[in-house]
Amino acid sequence: MRVGILTGGGDCPGLNAVIRAIVRKGELVYNDELIGFLDAWDGVRERRTMKLDVSSLRGMLPRGGTLLGTRRGSPYDHEHGLEEVQATFRDMALDALIVIGGNGSLSVACNLHRDLGLPIVGVPKTIDNDVVGTDVTFGFNTAVQIATDAIDRLHTTAESHDRVMVVEVMGRHSGWIATHAGIAGGATAILIPEQPFDIDEVCALLRGRHERGRYASIVVVAEGAEPKDGTMAGRDKVYDQFGHVRLGGMAETIAHAIEERTGFETRMVLLGHIQRGGTPTAFDRVLSTRYGVAAIDAVHMEAWGQMVALRAGEVLPIPLSETVGKTRPVDMHLYHEVAEVFFG
Ligand code: F6P
Repeated sequence: MRVGILTGGGDCPGLNAVIRAIVRKGELVYNDELIGFLDAWDGVRERRTMKLDVSSLRGMLPRGGTLLGTRRGSPYDHEHGLEEVQATFRDMALDALIVIGGNGSLSVACNLHRDLGLPIVGVPKTIDNDVVGTDVTFGFNTAVQIATDAIDRLHTTAESHDRVMVVEVMGRHSGWIATHAGIAGGATAILIPEQPFDIDEVCALLRGRHERGRYASIVVVAEGAEPKDGTMAGRDKVYDQFGHVRLGGMAETIAHAIEERTGFETRMVLLGHIQRGGTPTAFDRVLSTRYGVAAIDAVHMEAWGQMVALRAGEVLPIPLSETVGKTRPVDMHLYHEVAEVFFG
C-alpha cells in the first residue's frame, strides 16, 4: 500500500517515535511505501512530501519534535482545500493517510473521512492528555516529568528564600498536567480549568502553612484555570488565527494577588513550551511505538475513520466520531480524593 503520514497541531515528544514505528512495521512486515507530508495539512494540499524508510528514521526514537514539521489549521480553512486534498489522494495513488494529531487534527480527519470518504486512520497526540476515548495520549508523561523536575528545583529556592512560587503549566481546557505534576511535586494547591478557584481559599492555605512554620509553598496553575465569579478579576481572552484561545500569564495574576493579600513574597514561573520540547520519556517512547504499530495494523484492517486508542492496557481502533468535538476533563476523583488531601 502507499501510505501517507502527517503530524498536525502543536508538537509533542514521541511524534518521531510513532512515525518510526509506522515505517518500520509498514516497510518490513507489510511491504508498504511510506510518504511523509510536510507541515501537516498544508503539505497534503500542496503535495510537499518526503520519502520515509527505515534507514531515514535511524536515531529518531529519542528525538523530540517532528521530522515532518507541524502546523495548526485545516483544509476546510481554504477555498479549494477539499479539492486539493482529494487531488493529492488521487494523483499520488494514496491508499491511506495516518493523521497523528490532537483534538483539532483528529476532527479534521474525521470530517474528511465523512465528507469525502477518504481512507484515514488517526493517532491521538497531545501533552494535554485531553483526547476523549483513549486512556492516555503520548507526550503527556514527558510533560508531567518536565514539570515535576521544575517543581523539585523550585522547592529548594523557595525554601531558601521563604517564598511562595506559582508555577504555570500547560493545559488549555484540562488540568491533567497540573494535577499529576502537582501531586508528584508536592504542591500546596493545584488550580485547574475544571474547578474555578477562590483566591481567598488559596491564601488561607498559604497562611495556614505559615502558622505551622512552613514558609515556602508551591502553587501549580494550569494555564486555563479561572477564578470563581466575583472572587478576582479574570483576564481578557486572546485567540490565535485558528480560533484557539491563547493562554499564558494566569500565574502572574495569581502571584500578584497572593502577595497583595498575604504579604508573603511570591514569584511566578511560566514553564511554557519547555514542556513540549526535548526527548520523550521511556513511557512515551513505548506508548508511541505501540500507537505506531497499531496505526499501520489499522490501515491493513481498513479501519477507516478510526483512531488507535489505549484502553485498559490494550491499543485498538475506535471510531473517530467518538472523540470529535469533546475534551476529556481531568479525573476529578483523583483531584478531590488524592490531590486535595495534600493541599495546605
Ligand atoms: O498542544 C497543546 C498545547 O501545548 C496547549 O497546552 C497550549 O495551550 C497550546 O498547545 C500552545 O499552543 P502554541 O504552541 O500554538 O502556542
